[in-house]
Amino acid sequence: MRTVNTVLVLGLLLFTGQAFAASADVDWDMEPMDPDLGDMPSLQRGAALFTNFCMGCHSLKFQRYERTADDIGIPHDVALRNLVLSGQQIGALMETAMPPAQAKNWFGAPPPDLTMVARVRGPEWIYNMLKTFYMDESRPFGVNNKVFENIGMPHALITLQGTPTEVCEGAKVVDILDGETGVLDPDGEVIVEPDCSEIAVDGSGLYDEDEYDQAIYDIANFLYYMGDPSRAERESLGWWVLGFLLVLFVISSFLNREYWRAIH
Ligand code: HEC
Repeated sequence: MRTVNTVLVLGLLLFTGQAFAASADVDWDMEPMDPDLGDMPSLQRGAALFTNFCMGCHSLKFQRYERTADDIGIPHDVALRNLVLSGQQIGALMETAMPPAQAKNWFGAPPPDLTMVARVRGPEWIYNMLKTFYMDESRPFGVNNKVFENIGMPHALITLQGTPTEVCEGAKVVDILDGETGVLDPDGEVIVEPDCSEIAVDGSGLYDEDEYDQAIYDIANFLYYMGDPSRAERESLGWWVLGFLLVLFVISSFLNREYWRAIH
């Protein structure tokens, strides 16, 4: 009975992980994003992009600049010049410059702290979220998002990406069925639920598409590091432990043979 229970619990644990990953109810095919904690240049670029484009609103207040700089290989003087908010020490927590009262006023609630966001949402979600902003006049900030519908955040990277617009299938028609909005497909059939699962960019950004994808990869990679700063160290330690066990195994099997030789 006990083994059955254990198997059940293990199974459940496995599947809940799956269910969370798959539960995103969006009309966007999530693009894969494999984080790489060994890629220091990517983490460094991610840190620079994050402090420039995101920290005006979001904090990483469970982490200090110093730890970040040490972990991802940025010398302290470079970090002080480029990452740390002016007037602060390298040992300071990575807090946003935005006063909480004003943040509440502008956004309804202060923008969330992002130290742990990659643990909650996953790096792939962050990557896809940053990739799927599109212009939407009806929203307060003029943009919407495929992965986070009705997001209450502006498109912080629009100067890098350029203006993104939603591409829908067929021509847009209004009032086709009792006031409903929809599109016509190429055969003239009415599709009430338009398929707008693509986004086109107008080329007005500083980056081309590949450079933009790299930039948002780097930010997601950096936030992945941030959610668990000791992961890289733990993983490399793990290999040493395995190596040690291997050596121990070899020695003890020789020892084992030695003991039995005396008995036979
Ligand atoms: C002008 C302020 C502002 C800037 C700049 C900004 N954000 Fe946001 N962000 C917000 C607000 C406000 C929310 C909450 C939106 C909501 O809940 O609808 C948010 C939400 C998020 C979330 C979702 C958090 C969650 O789990 O619900 C992520 C991830 C995020 N931002 C990442 C970023 C990144 C990465 C950047 C920089 C490229 C950035 N943001 C720049 C204001 C901002």
